[in-house]
Amino acid sequence: MKLLSRPPAWLAMSLAAAVLVSMLVFFYARTQRNDALNYVEHVAVLRHLKQLDAQWELDVLKSKIGLNAHYDPLAGSLVEMIALLNGIESDLGAEQHGQVAGVAEGVAALRRAIDEKAALVERFKSNNAVLRNSLAFLPTAEQDVRQSLGRLGVHESAAAERMSENVNKLLLASMLYSQSASDEHAADIQSGLRGLDAEKLLLRSETTDRLDIFGAHVRTVLREQRGVNELLGLISAVPTAARVEEIQNVLSAEQQRVADLSRQYLGYLLVFSALLLGLFLYAAARLIRSHAVINRVNKKLHSVNETLEQRVEERTQELRQVQSDLLTTARQAGMAEIATNVLHNVGNVLNSVNVSAGLVGASVRSSKILGLTRAVQMLNEHADDLASFMTLDAKGKMLPVYLTQLSQVLLAEQQSILGELTSMTKSVDHIKEIIATQQAYAGTASLMEPARIEELVEDALRMNAGALARHQVTVEKEFAPVPVLPLDKGRILQILVNLIGNAKQAMEAATDRTHRLTLSVGMVRGHTLRVAVADTGVGIPPENLVRVFAHGFTTKEDGHGFGLHSAAVAAREMGGALTAHSNGPGTGAVFVLELPAGAAPKNEETT
Ligand SMILES: Nc1ncnc2c1ncn2[C@@H]1O[C@H](COP(=O)(O)OP(=O)(O)OP(=O)(O)O)[C@@H](O)[C@H]1O
Ligand SMILES: [Mg+2]
Repeated sequence: MKLLSRPPAWLAMSLAAAVLVSMLVFFYARTQRNDALNYVEHVAVLRHLKQLDAQWELDVLKSKIGLNAHYDPLAGSLVEMIALLNGIESDLGAEQHGQVAGVAEGVAALRRAIDEKAALVERFKSNNAVLRNSLAFLPTAEQDVRQSLGRLGVHESAAAERMSENVNKLLLASMLYSQSASDEHAADIQSGLRGLDAEKLLLRSETTDRLDIFGAHVRTVLREQRGVNELLGLISAVPTAARVEEIQNVLSAEQQRVADLSRQYLGYLLVFSALLLGLFLYAAARLIRSHAVINRVNKKLHSVNETLEQRVEERTQELRQVQSDLLTTARQAGMAEIATNVLHNVGNVLNSVNVSAGLVGASVRSSKILGLTRAVQMLNEHADDLASFMTLDAKGKMLPVYLTQLSQVLLAEQQSILGELTSMTKSVDHIKEIIATQQAYAGTASLMEPARIEELVEDALRMNAGALARHQVTVEKEFAPVPVLPLDKGRILQILVNLIGNAKQAMEAATDRTHRLTLSVGMVRGHTLRVAVADTGVGIPPENLVRVFAHGFTTKEDGHGFGLHSAAVAAREMGGALTAHSNGPGTGAVFVLELPAGAAPKNEETT
């Protein structure tokens, strides 16, 4: 839960690193603004504008004094200035900084000033053209007047001389006025013109015409020179240079602001870098320390691991030894169990062999064969008079009857001995089967062969026949029809001999009642063979119903507690089961063996 609620350390560290790097990049970007470049470009353009403006005014002055042959230089500067202004304006449109509005206002004012100056220059150009024209023509007009005065008669010579002097003065005054338009020169021209007007009445009309032309040009110079001077004053009063400077001021203020800001961010960047460096050094120190700790822990772990491996190796060796000991013990225990089983079952069968051998011995000992020997001896004694002996002697007369009876007795004896010998042969076969069956414990395949269960029951009964007869046990058989089935005869016989033996012993202990052994055989639930051995013996208390199958459980003084255990194991090995039923002490017991009919036996180890 803790893990879920807290973000992992690497995530927090990555976030912190991302924030730090972003801040670093931000500060660096702030110190790297390219406004400085724009500023330099703008200042260069403004300087050029200023130069063009000065050049323009210079060209106006040159035009005024006639140094320029035509007015093209005036128009060229203007065109270039307008182009530069347009360039600045389009740059401003693309720029983002805070002072764009201030610069744009300055540029607009400059444009207005240039327009105003251009209009004044246009007016100057027309006025100056008229002035230049009159000034250029004045010497020619004066020449014409002088020639006309020269053609006057003697009586007019005094007036002509005065007039000539007057015209000379006027020409000089006009020239001076055109150089420096002072009031004094203007007054001189005015008084010269008045004198000219007064004198010309005395002269001939040809001369008067010339004088009029001259006077008109002088007046034009006087008028236009004043106008041109006024225009020049107005032109130089237009504040184009001031406007350029205003723009420059705004730009340098902005540049200053940006530089201040950059310096500020540079300071932040330095502080932040120092902080990062500190953090880095701290992290490096921590890392080195952690590395040392990890190395130490690693070494410790390594040595612990080596010790652990050694211990594990030792423990493994010990366990291997214990396992091998256990295996030996288990093998010994298994072999002991097998040996017990074999001995027990062989012992059971040997009981009936003993009984049969005893019966045969008793039968042989009490045989009537001696009677035959005596009869043969008697016949030999009377070999010479055998006919008279057989007919006259009392003993001889009885001999044929005796021999007849003797032969019958001997025949019966032979039958009985043969019966017991058959039983003994079967017991010996059973012993062989028991040994073969026990070999199955060691992995030998079980011996399945087609057999009739009734015959196996009969054989088992026969093996216990003597004892059953001795204890007056009534045997009842309830055999339902059962087909020939593949059966492990040895194991089944072993189980039945055990069950019949136990039943006999249980009834032997119950002396107060009749002894009845019921053997039933039949098929149940389709394909299950069922064999039940019921007795009227001492019965089994409920708590012992399961325990009776445990290895070594016995209630008998001379018992081993092995018969039922081995029988149950054998039943399990055949894929079946052996169960005990009893209503308690004194009520007898029923042992039921159920086997799958035709199923392959289980190849299971004994437990
Ligand atoms: N038919 C029966 N009626 C009552 N008790 C029985 C019967 N069969 C077995 N028992 C009980 O089960 C116990 C175990 O029987 P099991 O055959 O295994 O051993 P055992 O007969 O005591 O000795 P042994 O190993 O020599 O046969 C018996 O001691 C007895 O108490
Ligand atoms: Mg027993």
